Formats: sequence, structure tokens, C-alpha cells
Amino acid sequence: MNDSIFSGKTALVTGASSGMGFAIAERLQQAGAQVFGLCRNTDNLPADVTAIQCDLSDPAQIDDAFSGIKQLDILINNAGIAMLAGISDGDPADWELMWRVNVHALAICCQKALDVFPESGGQIINISSMSGHRVPKTGGFYAPTKFAVRAITEALRSELRFQGNKTRVATVSPGFVETPLLDVYFAGREDQLEKTKASMKMLQPEDVAESVMHMLRTPDHVDLTDIQMRCTEQKS
Ligand SMILES: NC(=O)c1ccc[n+]([C@@H]2O[C@H](COP(=O)([O-])OP(=O)(O)OC[C@H]3O[C@@H](n4cnc5c(N)ncnc54)[C@H](OP(=O)(O)O)[C@@H]3O)[C@@H](O)[C@H]2O)c1
Repeated sequence: MNDSIFSGKTALVTGASSGMGFAIAERLQQAGAQVFGLCRNTDNLPADVTAIQCDLSDPAQIDDAFSGIKQLDILINNAGIAMLAGISDGDPADWELMWRVNVHALAICCQKALDVFPESGGQIINISSMSGHRVPKTGGFYAPTKFAVRAITEALRSELRFQGNKTRVATVSPGFVETPLLDVYFAGREDQLEKTKASMKMLQPEDVAESVMHMLRTPDHVDLTDIQMRCTEQKS
């Protein structure tokens, strides 16, 4: 379905090889945008999405990735990892990796996108999580990274307003979404994941993509800053 507001627009979606990023990149491409999909494994991108191979844990690779982008209207900072890494007993190497990918790389991508957005402003959507609003008991170091995504979003929104820059920056905060990320987050607790899946119809990547598209379609004067979404049966 071609959607006139996206034709002529260029979008970059990080983590477009799986889950929500794949669904968002596909929707944007179908709506008529030119879409770049950034990830490590570029074999699995939606049709007609241009691959940018990049490991976001390495700032030098982010520099290279953006060096080929001369103009951009939309940045979707979606890539993220969720490891079970408690504060009391987790491996600090896991904390560091999550911090680099979920937080540091996301902030760098925001900064790089601002350099190539039009004068009239662009749009940035950062995928946070319900774990960025409240800490689940197994949230460990993952939840703090998602709180940081919201804090970065608000810090940037307010900086831009004081600069008179009309770029809109927002978060989407989903609860459980049925993607491969959950297999990693629940590693060693597979029975718990099965039980959780059996107890609810989880959000699907397409549900999140739909909310992202809604946010992108709002008129220029509307600054929708966060969407919190859970499946109806999720309690916390
Ligand atoms: N699933 C959930 O329940 C849930 C809930 C709330 C929020 N979230 C958030 O939603 C976002 C998307 O998650 P998902 O569930 O769709 O996960 P997913 O299916 O595991 O996809 C994660 C994506 O991130 C990319 N990625 C991971 N590490 C990367 C790195 N070092 N460099 C570049 N790309 C990297 C992966 O691509 P490559 O492996 O090809 O690099 C993949 O495309 C994440 O930020 C996650 O924290 C997920």
C-alpha cells in the first residue's frame, strides 16, 4: 500500500533483520519510503530494503554505516539485546554489551541522523520497553538500559526544542512481543517462556510496526512522545 506521506522519504531502521525491526522496515518500504536496514546479518531483510552491515557495539562501524547516508527523514532505533544479567549476580561483560548496543549506539545514531535530517526536521523513534517504565523482577541490567532509552529520548527532545529544531523524537514501549529476543532473555528458563506464551496472546511484531506507522503519520504539529503497549492479558 503506497502512502503518499512516505513517498520521497528515506528511513533507516536498525535491527531490521528480525522481529519488530523487520516488520517496521517492511511496512515503511511498502508505504513508499526508501528504507535502509542496519544489522549484522544482512541475509534476512525485507524485500527492497537496502542493507547496511554494521555491528552497533562498535562505534567505528556506526561511523562507516552513516558515511554512505547523505539524507534521511526517519530513524527507527530498534536494534537491541536482552540478556538475563542480574545486578547482584550477572556478568558485567553482558551489562557492557547491552549498554553499548541498547544505549550508546542508539544515542550515536540519533546524533548522526540529526546531521543528515532536513532543515525542517526529521523523526526519530526509539524502541524502549515496558521494562523502561517499571522493573520486572528478572529485569536485571536490561531494564536500566530501557530506562536510559527513555531518558535519552526526553533529553534530546528538550535539547532540540531549545535549539528551535523541529525534529520529533519519541519512544514506543512494548511489553512482551513474540520475537527471537525472548529465547535469549529466557535462556535456561525455557519452561517459563512456554508457560508465559501459553497464558497470553503476545503482541506480534506487526502490532508494534502499526503503532510506529501511526506515530510517523501524525501531522508535523503533533509531538506524540511515547506509546506504551502490552497484550491485553499481560498483567505487569
Ligand atoms: N521482544 C520483546 O518482548 C520486546 C519487548 C519490548 C522491547 N523490545 C525491544 O524491541 C527491540 C527489537 O527487539 P526484537 O524483539 O524485535 O528482537 P530480535 O527479533 O532479537 O531482533 C533484534 C534485532 O537487533 C539487531 N541487533 C542485535 N545486536 C546488534 C548489533 N550488535 N548490531 C546491529 N544490530 C544488532 C539484530 O540483528 P543482527 O543479529 O542481524 O545484527 C536484530 O535485527 C529491541 O530494542 C528490544 O529490546 C523487545
